[in-house]
Amino acid sequence: MEKTIIIANWKMNPCTFLDAQALISEILFGTKDTKTVNVVFCPPFVYLQGLIKKYPKAVFGAQDCFWEQQGAFTGEVSPQMLKAMGCAYVILGHSERAKYLGETEDMVQKKVAAALVAGLEVILCVGEKEETPKDMPGLLVVYEPEWAISTEGKGAADTKLVASRVAAMRRTLKTSPILYGGSVTSSNIASLIKETGVQGALVGSASLDACEFFNLVKNAAA
Ligand code: 13P
Repeated sequence: MEKTIIIANWKMNPCTFLDAQALISEILFGTKDTKTVNVVFCPPFVYLQGLIKKYPKAVFGAQDCFWEQQGAFTGEVSPQMLKAMGCAYVILGHSERAKYLGETEDMVQKKVAAALVAGLEVILCVGEKEETPKDMPGLLVVYEPEWAISTEGKGAADTKLVASRVAAMRRTLKTSPILYGGSVTSSNIASLIKETGVQGALVGSASLDACEFFNLVKNAAA
């Protein structure tokens, strides 16, 4: 059986490298005996190199990348750079990038192609509006409805809804893993895994609290 995959999307947190180090140390300690779950850490770009060096056994991903590998693209980071640094994954198409930065579907598709060429595994976020992508080696798809993100206590999407969306996506996607994202916590992860057919989760807020996150990982394994 494929291992469950839990991805920690730290977004633009925490504010210092020291805090990032403290968070990952505590999580790694708390999850050291959980062997049936693959955990991927996606910190901000600026912490990646330091964390990869310090925690060589942990698995890392970036939160975005550009669609070219090199050149005059001020402020951008290429998939090749991420791969060379030791990143295994990259999150692409997150709804916050469309909402705050105007990222389009066309940009996302170019990024996906470039990331796969560079040898990164792509964690592609798909909301209610985007079409289900086709299977590609190295692709993981996350069903992440925008309205379910960071609901602060109102909870994740209903498991019946997630199950029906996953079943619909499975008509197109035969082999790529499908994950769920949006207000996943240590309390709802077990039912999401058991009742919806997802292979894991993309976790935002709950990945910033070490105790909450390692309980989430443990409950994903249960
Ligand atoms: P929350 O877990 O905070 O809802 O964030 C979900 C998300 O956007 C993960 O990428």
